[in-house]
Amino acid sequence: MSIFFVARDIYFQGKRLLLVEIDGVHYSIEDKCPHRGGLISRGKICEKGIICPLHHKIYTKNMIKKNCVEFDLKSNSDFLI
Ligand code: FES
Repeated sequence: MSIFFVARDIYFQGKRLLLVEIDGVHYSIEDKCPHRGGLISRGKICEKGIICPLHHKIYTKNMIKKNCVEFDLKSNSDFLI
């Protein structure tokens, strides 16, 4: 199982998003750790997921898949990178 950062610092409908690839599939999540709001995009990749830079809790691959934010790039004009 692999995980990679694809894009950071993306803003969509007032949210800061992070794009990651897990086993060849792309997921977008809010770039905000559920613990105390750390930037997940500034964490380190590990075998289980992403280690939050603030308190080092692991944002697991399953959490990423569960909290995925869906958006359609073709129909939304308020997408900024
Ligand atoms: S803010 Fe991420 S572990 Fe605390």
